[in-house]
Amino acid sequence: MTKYIHGYIPEEQERLLIQAGVLAPLIYPWIDFTGCQHVLEIGSGVGAQSHLLLSLYPHIELSCVEIEKKQIKKAKHNLTQFMDRRIHFMNQDAGDLQLKKKADGVFICWVLEHLNDPAAVLAKARENMFSGAVIYITEVFNSSFHFYPQLSGLDRYYQAYNQLQRNLGGDPDVGLRLGNLLKESGFSEIELSRSGFHLDQTQPKELKKIANYWKELMKSGSEALLAAGIVNTADVLQMEQDLDQIASDPDGVLFYQFIQAKARV
Ligand SMILES: C[S@@+](CC[C@H](N)C(=O)[O-])C[C@H]1O[C@@H](n2cnc3c(N)ncnc32)[C@H](O)[C@@H]1O
Repeated sequence: MTKYIHGYIPEEQERLLIQAGVLAPLIYPWIDFTGCQHVLEIGSGVGAQSHLLLSLYPHIELSCVEIEKKQIKKAKHNLTQFMDRRIHFMNQDAGDLQLKKKADGVFICWVLEHLNDPAAVLAKARENMFSGAVIYITEVFNSSFHFYPQLSGLDRYYQAYNQLQRNLGGDPDVGLRLGNLLKESGFSEIELSRSGFHLDQTQPKELKKIANYWKELMKSGSEALLAAGIVNTADVLQMEQDLDQIASDPDGVLFYQFIQAKARV
């Protein structure tokens, strides 16, 4: 199994909930499960996106597949308010996915970047979908990250973070490949879209909010980066200080694009 850069400590589990809330306005406008009855979420984590899906689509039955038991335990807690709904939690590796009942919708968000064979997981998902079923994927494109002013501490840390993701068998630019991966896995009607942020001091509150979000995202890799000996504690601190500086600098800019894909069986 690929080692996981973010880890499963309680702070990380909490970060996933905050992340889902911060990014929801950028992710969900492109997604539509209105016509679906049974949605499968792959890599459902602590249920942060499941919560949004269940709120947005009150009619759906939701199957959550997640490889880590600790995440499922937390997801059950986070989704208590929906327990009268049809929700199934499955502790499975998405690469060996086995559903009792096929899905007519599949949702994947921030998961394929961690896998060494994302096409195999997509092909497995496809086997568990009805003909005509829809899949929506949202994934990272980390090379698109740019910031101003140039700060070497943040730059170095970011390169180290992405290098560790590659060393662990993942792909920090997997978003770029979504179209080809879906094609290779047998999907058709493939559509791609981009979303993200381009923030500066014309929107100071939003810039600060995203700088803080990015700081927590970067810190979520710090334990693994420190353990791998790729950064030291001073590097972590410098990365945090650089993001604080961008938020307050009169010339501060943050730019990032992630990729979304839609396809059908
Ligand atoms: C960054 S989290 C995202 C969780 C959720 N999609 C969200 O946006 O909040 C990635 C999740 O994918 C899970 N995961 C990684 N590899 C997996 C696999 N092969 N099968 C199922 N889940 C996996 C991890 O355990 C983790 O909970």
